[in-house]
Amino acid sequence: MRLLRKQDNQVRVVMTHSAMQFISPLTFQALSGNSVSTELLDAEEENAMGHINLARWADKLVIAPATANIIAKLTHGLADDLLSTLYLATNCPVYIAPAMNHVMWNKAVTQENILRLQTHGVQLIGPESGDQACGEVGFGRMSEASDIVLKLTEESCSDYTLQSKNILISAGPTREFLDPVRYITNRSSGKMGYALAEAALNAGAKVTLISGPVNLTSSDKITRINVETAEQMHHAVLSRADKNDIYIGAAAVADYTPASISLKKIKKQANESTIQLQKTRDILTDVAALKNKPNFIVGFAAETDDLEHYAKNKLKQKKLDMIAANWVGQEQGGFDKDENALQVYWNTGSQCLEMTNKTHLAKQLINLITERVNEKNST
Ligand code: C5P
Repeated sequence: MRLLRKQDNQVRVVMTHSAMQFISPLTFQALSGNSVSTELLDAEEENAMGHINLARWADKLVIAPATANIIAKLTHGLADDLLSTLYLATNCPVYIAPAMNHVMWNKAVTQENILRLQTHGVQLIGPESGDQACGEVGFGRMSEASDIVLKLTEESCSDYTLQSKNILISAGPTREFLDPVRYITNRSSGKMGYALAEAALNAGAKVTLISGPVNLTSSDKITRINVETAEQMHHAVLSRADKNDIYIGAAAVADYTPASISLKKIKKQANESTIQLQKTRDILTDVAALKNKPNFIVGFAAETDDLEHYAKNKLKQKKLDMIAANWVGQEQGGFDKDENALQVYWNTGSQCLEMTNKTHLAKQLINLITERVNEKNST
């Protein structure tokens, strides 16, 4: 806990009843600065930070020490306390650092359970050989705290919840030209779309990013296509959409573009001037109308008023699977900021993702999308 906190990580502690016989929750409350969760069915906890909220909040779940009992429970999907239920409810990478007597560790059933958990994607840290609490010597000692933290930090780039999925993401603003030197654009920085691309990559997806003009860099593992206008973005997205499992439209695409572009620079003349605009084609709507469309389509809605009403309308009208809505024009969050909050709606539910940096927010949204994709595939 101290090492993780030292590296500026936010840590929340879940304790089993057995753990509480060794150490008091108050100790962890003091060290983590957060209340400690101990009960699956606790009226107060359920309101504040129930197992589903904890499951969505976490970037990583580490069980240290992991006893033979919790390992067996995880292997078989038992969910009779908060920790085992949390494991079932989360999509984040899970690490276990076993600690037990060496005979228990070497027992065939424990070894079988460990192997199965690893095939389920759980990552093993240790155990090590050495002096044990029981006075014997052998394999089963929990890895040193520093080794556990090292492993958690090393692995921060891979959790593979979207492995084998192709994801297409559009990001940034568009530019709608009036003449060779002037254009109409908006305040989008592309930060949210780029953070989503990075989060999807870290979740194991193959990511294609269609980017409007922004000052951001992207991993060379992401296929990036740069465009400028709404029409170019439309073409870039529509020509690739059928090869992707998920489309996330995070770009702030111009709704209108000049009806004609002057080939020469427009001269300063009359006191007033009028620009005739025409509607651009709606990329999201057109993707959702494709015969071979992505299995899951996510839109964004930036609103200055009546957020829920407009977002839910767009979800329906554009025939989306999910819409992520955010307030713009307010002091905190929105365009060109590093932080944002989202209210996410889908046909059967909604979820509030609270104000945080866009990297963390993107990770939470990707987790939510993964959950809904899995749900859609299972029905
Ligand atoms: O209807 P509105 O433009 O407010 O909806 C916002 C959502 O629609 C965003 O996800 C945006 O990327 C998408 N959009 C689009 N094509 C347009 C305009 C907006 O895909 N021409």
